[in-house]
Amino acid sequence: MSFFRPTIDTLRAYTPGRQPPLGARVIKLNTNENPYPPSARAVDALRALDPDALRRYPHPFADEFRRAAATVVGVDPTWVLAGNGSDDLLTILVRATAGPGRPVVYPTPTYVLYRTLAEIQDAPVVEVPFDADFTLPVDRLAAAQGALTCVANPNSPSGTATPTERLGALAAALDGILVVDEAYAAFADENAVALLDTHPNLVILRTLSKSHGLAGLRLGFAIAHPAVLGGLAKVKDSYNVDAVAARVGAAAILDTAHTADIVARIQANRAQLTAGLQRLGCRVWPSQANFVLVRPPGGDAARIYRELEQRGILVRYFDEPALAEMLRITVGTRTQQDALITTLESILRPAPEADR
Ligand SMILES: Cc1ncc(COP(=O)(O)O)c(C=O)c1O
Repeated sequence: MSFFRPTIDTLRAYTPGRQPPLGARVIKLNTNENPYPPSARAVDALRALDPDALRRYPHPFADEFRRAAATVVGVDPTWVLAGNGSDDLLTILVRATAGPGRPVVYPTPTYVLYRTLAEIQDAPVVEVPFDADFTLPVDRLAAAQGALTCVANPNSPSGTATPTERLGALAAALDGILVVDEAYAAFADENAVALLDTHPNLVILRTLSKSHGLAGLRLGFAIAHPAVLGGLAKVKDSYNVDAVAARVGAAAILDTAHTADIVARIQANRAQLTAGLQRLGCRVWPSQANFVLVRPPGGDAARIYRELEQRGILVRYFDEPALAEMLRITVGTRTQQDALITTLESILRPAPEADR
C-alpha cells in the first residue's frame, strides 16, 4: 500500500551535496558555493529590514528585486520573473510545459534535477549524451523536439561552455521552450541575453547562489519574453520569493562592483586550481564555471573522494557510469585550494616508507 502516485514511489530523489553544520572544520568544495562573503550592502539591507516587511505578505513578483535585476541585465522589468532559487523556476517551467506526451530533453551528464522534475511530472525524458569533449549535440537535441529543452551553460558538472551562436541555432530549431540555465554564466566569457530579441522561445535562468555568494538566501530569476513569463506566472506559488530575499537580493545584485571583484578572484583561483591539478597528472576539462571536472590519474575517483572526506575535504562524486572516474571540485580560496592540492598529492603519491 502506498499513499503516493506510482511515479513518486519509483522516483530516484534528487540528492543534494552534503551540507555539514555551519562552523564545521571542513574544506567545503562540493556544492559550488562562493567562498567569499556576499556584498556588505546586502548584509546591511538584511540588518536594516523593517519588521513590518515580515508581518505583511511580500510583493507577488518581488518587484523591488525584479526592477534591480532588470536594470543590471539591461532589460525591461516585464522580462524578469523571480523565483525561490533557480530550482523554483525550473520546477515552474517543467510544470507549465511538460507532461505525458510532452518530453523534457537535455544533454547528459548535466544537472540531475532536470530529470527528477520531468519524472515527477510524468513527462517522457530524452537524454542526449555529450561527447568526451562536452560539445553540445545540437542536431540530436533539436530532433527530439522537447516541450522543454534544458541546457546548463556553462554545464555542470563539466564546467564547459557552448558558444552563444550554437544555442541560437538550437533555439531556432525548436518548437518548444529552450531553457539556458546560466547559473554559472557570471564566471564565463559569454551569455545568451542577446538571443532574447530574436528567439521568443528562449528562457534564461540566473541565480544569486554562485556569483553573489547567496546560496542560503534562495533567489534566482528567469529572463524571457513577457508572454512566456505570463504563462509561468500562472504556475508559480503566489508568494514564491519572500520579503527578506527580495530586499537583500536587490541590494546584492545592484552591488555590481562587489560581484565583479569576487568573480575575478574566482576566475584567477580557477586557473591556479587547474594548474595544480594538472601538475598532479589529473585531466581537467576547460572550465568557465566556479568548479572543475577532474579525472585523477588512474581514474579511482570514488576512493579519492572518500580519502579526501576522511581528511576533512569535501568534493563531489557522482555515482553514475559516465562520471564514475571523475570528481567535481568547486573553486575555493587560495588557502583551501593549497590544502586540497597538498592532500591530494599525499593520496596520489604516498611518501615512501622511510619518509613517513
Ligand atoms: C546548473 C544549475 N542550475 C541550477 C542550480 C540551482 O541553483 P539555485 O541555488 O538558484 O536553486 C544549480 C545548483 O547547483 C546548478 O548547478
